[in-house]
Amino acid sequence: MKDIQLHDKTFEIYLPETEIAEIVQKIADEINNSGIENPLFIAVLNGSFLFAADVMRKITIPNSEISFIKLSSYEGTETTGKVNELIGLNQGLKGRNIIILEDIIDTGNTLEKLNEIILNKEVASLKIATLLYKPEAYTKEITIDFIGKSIPNKFVVGYGLDYDEIGRNLPHIYKLKN
Ligand code: IMP
Ligand code: MG
Repeated sequence: MKDIQLHDKTFEIYLPETEIAEIVQKIADEINNSGIENPLFIAVLNGSFLFAADVMRKITIPNSEISFIKLSSYEGTETTGKVNELIGLNQGLKGRNIIILEDIIDTGNTLEKLNEIILNKEVASLKIATLLYKPEAYTKEITIDFIGKSIPNKFVVGYGLDYDEIGRNLPHIYKLKN
């Protein structure tokens, strides 16, 4: 597959859509078999919109619900270390079994902030699911319960993930070309 150009950078194919679909199915299977009842999924916008849409269609747990939160910490290809909550949750979380849906966990700053917001709401349980995980970049102790794929510490785009807001529409995931 051809390289692509986004802003000033060149990207090469990393995970074709067929492989993404397999990863999504694997995560859905794990969640479906986890024993979690009546879950409230919380998808982290913007990056997880495609992942959340695809994984939800594979969830077979009765009475599954979904809500959305918008957080951001990235500028360009570097994390700013500071996470801003942009759109808060307006749904009662008390007593709920929450499953966070993230596109990618990098340093874990976003996850830590989310964890804090959600654990403050007296939830019954909290699990984390992420499509991609960068173990070399992760600096937190929080357990990630469902990991689609661990990847090297490289910047990736596509399937919801952006480089300065573009590239989210790409069906495949691409990595920065050196
Ligand atoms: P963290 O707070 O450092 O874990 O970064 C989490 C957020 O940064 C993710 O939800 C993404 O929105 C964004 N991010 C991290 N790594 C990448 C990447 O390789 N490509 C695009 N966005 C990324
Ligand atoms: Mg994100």
